[in-house]
Amino acid sequence: MENKIEEFEKDIEKLLISSKEEAESFRIRFLGSKNVLKNLFSEIKNVPQDKRKSVGQLINKLKNKAQDKLDKFTHSADNQEDESSDLDLTLPGENVSLGSRHPISLVTEQIVDIFKRIGFNVSEGPEIEDDWHNFSALNLPEEHPARDMQDTFFIEKDPDYLLRTHTSSVQVRVMENEKPPIRTITPGRVFRNEAISARAHCFFHQVEGLYIDKDVSFADLKQTLDFFAKELFGETAKIRMRPSYFPFTEPSAEVDVSCTLCATKGCNVCKYTGWLEILGCGMVDPNVLKNCGIDPEVYSGFAFGMGVERIAQLKYQVKDLRLYSENDVRFLNQFKSAL
Ligand code: PHE
Repeated sequence: MENKIEEFEKDIEKLLISSKEEAESFRIRFLGSKNVLKNLFSEIKNVPQDKRKSVGQLINKLKNKAQDKLDKFTHSADNQEDESSDLDLTLPGENVSLGSRHPISLVTEQIVDIFKRIGFNVSEGPEIEDDWHNFSALNLPEEHPARDMQDTFFIEKDPDYLLRTHTSSVQVRVMENEKPPIRTITPGRVFRNEAISARAHCFFHQVEGLYIDKDVSFADLKQTLDFFAKELFGETAKIRMRPSYFPFTEPSAEVDVSCTLCATKGCNVCKYTGWLEILGCGMVDPNVLKNCGIDPEVYSGFAFGMGVERIAQLKYQVKDLRLYSENDVRFLNQFKSAL
């Protein structure tokens, strides 16, 4: 009996399985329903009682060995089948196309970075504002005609709430909650009830700035904006200020930057004036400081505000404001190199 087992064991080891046919005949012989090992099991009864257990174990081992050998073959055959299938791993893959940063994000980040370098921090606030933070605290009481300068989306259920028309509302929140010195910029989306065209949209983005401390002067404002313009548009950029009016600043000014495209000689971008308007600014009106709990006898400050779309338009020659919000990849892909 033990000799028979040994012989089968040698057979199992020796037999080569190199094809499916060979594998099948191997299976039938050692593992099929009428396999040779079954005969061995039925012969166990002829083995002396004390050896039956160990002989039974040997036959079981044999069975496992046969099964292992067969498994090994089927496993490697499966792998070979994979390799011979249509899958060609050497074919170049399809490129995953990377998205690009939105020009508004890029420009906002550039502006924010410039001011961060000279000690400004970043503040953010809600897009749905109340009348106080968007208007009244900023020296724009109800019925003030200057409210018409910014066509407003009011919340129908409660007209005390509105979509902020500028991020000056965030500056009010900062002044109410922090003690001077305050040096902060407020990037964010703002809304105005305007008909959508190439030159106007019902929402756009702003970066506004605020600096409040003892003895802040108009010269500080001018110096800061001059630094900003040179950082953003290049060393040769110059700024000029024109007197203007904002209810929350006194005196107020609008700031133009020299047209870097034509070096102020005049071109169609600057409409042959040599200058491009980029922002509004001024010294914070004492009434605004008072409204926000800051003593105007002790502190003074300057504020400025600019439209990001406008700056992006100048940097990248974008002719139509609507392109920024249409999300056309042909437009957006052009900013890949600006990453
Ligand atoms: N808040 C003004 C606007 O949106 C811009 C501005 C800010 C002007 C600060 C002066 C000072 O039009």
